[in-house]
Amino acid sequence: MPEQTLTATDNRTGKSYTLPVENGTLRAMDLRKIKTDADDFGLMTYDPALMNTASSKSAITFIDGNNGILEYRGYPIEKLAESCNYLQVTYLILFGELPNGEQLSAWTHDITYHTFVHEKVKTLMQAFRYDAHPMGMFISTVAALSTFYPEANKVEDAENRLTQIKRLIAKVPTIAAYTYRHHRGLPYIYPDNDLTYTGNFLNMMFKMTEAKYTPNPALEHALDVLFILHADHEQNCSTNAMRAIGSSRVDPYSAMAGAAAALYGPLHGGANEEVLKMLSHIGDTRNIPEFIQRIKSGQGRLMGFGHRVYKNYDPRARIIKRVAEEVFEVTGRNRLLDIALELERIALEDKYFISRKLYPNVDFYSGIIYQAMGLPVAMFPVMFAIPRTVGWLTQWQEMITDPEQKITRPRQIFVGQPRRELAMQKGLAVGVKSKK
Ligand code: CMC
Repeated sequence: MPEQTLTATDNRTGKSYTLPVENGTLRAMDLRKIKTDADDFGLMTYDPALMNTASSKSAITFIDGNNGILEYRGYPIEKLAESCNYLQVTYLILFGELPNGEQLSAWTHDITYHTFVHEKVKTLMQAFRYDAHPMGMFISTVAALSTFYPEANKVEDAENRLTQIKRLIAKVPTIAAYTYRHHRGLPYIYPDNDLTYTGNFLNMMFKMTEAKYTPNPALEHALDVLFILHADHEQNCSTNAMRAIGSSRVDPYSAMAGAAAALYGPLHGGANEEVLKMLSHIGDTRNIPEFIQRIKSGQGRLMGFGHRVYKNYDPRARIIKRVAEEVFEVTGRNRLLDIALELERIALEDKYFISRKLYPNVDFYSGIIYQAMGLPVAMFPVMFAIPRTVGWLTQWQEMITDPEQKITRPRQIFVGQPRRELAMQKGLAVGVKSKK
C-alpha cells in the first residue's frame, strides 16, 4: 500500500477505499467515489465556515498559527517590517521576489503615476451624503472604477491584469483619502507624486493651506510598517470573497468591491473600530475586571482578541505595539493605550482566555494608533483596505491562472421541505395538507 494514502471502510456497504493523501489533504472529489449504489451522488464533506477545507494551493503567504509565524513569499513579517518599505513588499507579494534597484524604481514610478482618479470619480464621491460612512464610500467607488476601465473584464490577459492591478494599488490611497476629506467636510486634495506612497497618502489626508505638504517621517514610516503588516493574510474572509467573486471572471474592481465589503464586517476589518469603542466604553483601568467578568459570562467578546488561525500571539500585534510607541512620540500618548495594555495583561493571565488560546490580534493596537494620528474610527476599515489591496489582487491573479480552479460553487445539505403539492383556490396558490 503506498504510504501517502488513506484507507477507509464504508460501513454502509462494507467496501474499502484507498484514497491518495497529498500535502496532508484528501481531495474532496475523491470521496465522491464512495457510494452506497450506482445512483448515489457520492460522499461529500460538510464544513460550515470552511473550518477545515483548503480551497486553493497558494504560494503567497504562509501562516503557522500555533507558533505565531507569518511569512510573505518565505520572508518573515518581522524582517520585512524592519527592512523594507511598503512598495517593495507589494512587489514581493505580487511577483514573488523582492525587487532589485531598477525594478523598484520602475515599480515606484508606475504606482506613483496611477495615483490620480478621473474627475468624475471625484464627482461621484461628492454625491454621497455628508455623513456617509467612509467604508461604504470606498466600497462603492472601487466598484464604480469598473465603469471607467471597461477593458478590465479581459481577466485572462496578463498584461491587462497588471495594468488594473497597478491602477488599484495606486488609486486606493486617493479614494481612501477622499472618503476622509468628505467625512470631515474638507476639499479633496490631489496626489503629490514627489512623495512616497505613504507620504502622499498623509498629504491627501491632512494638507491644509500650505503650498507643499511635508509628511512627518516618523508617521510616514509607522504607516509604512502598518501597511506591510496588513498586505496579505492568506485565505481570510475577504480574500475568500475576492477569489469566489473573481472566479466568475468578473473584472477585478467588482471583485475587490466585494472583498472590501467582507472586510467591513466587525468580525474582520471592522474589529479595530470595535476595539476603540470597547476601550472607550471601559473608560478606566479600574473597570477592567468587571468588564472581563461580563465577557466571560458570555456578554459580548473581547474585541481585538482571538483569531481563527493564530492560537498564539499574532506576530503582527507584537510589531504594532512597537509602532504605537513611535507614533505616540510624535502625537502624544493615547490614553486608551493604558486601558489596552492592562486589559491585555489581565486577559493573558485569565484561565478563560488561556484555555481558548485567545491572544491579541492585529486589530487590538492598530485602532489606537490610527486614532492618535487623528483618524476617526469610521476610517479604520478603510485603513485596512488600502494595504490589503495587493493581497486581494495577488490572490485573485493566482486563482485566475491556476488551471485547477473553476467557478466557486459549494454544495449544500438540503434540510428544507420535501417536494409538495399546491392547488389554486379562487385564483390564489395555496398549500395542500398531506394526507397522512
Ligand atoms: N472574546 C471572548 N471570547 C472569545 C473571543 C473573544 N474575542 N473569541 C473567541 N472566543 C471564545 C468563543 O466564545 C468560544 O468559546 P466557547 O468554546 O466557550 O464557545 C471560543 O473562544 C472559540 O471561538 P470561536 O468563535 O469558535 O472562534 P472563531 O475562530 O470562529 O473566531 C474570531 C475567530 C476572530 C471571529 C473571534 O475570535 C472573534 O470574534 N474575535 C473578536 C473580533 C476580532 O478581534 N476580529 C479580528 C480578527 S483579526 C483581523 C482579521 O484577520 O480580520
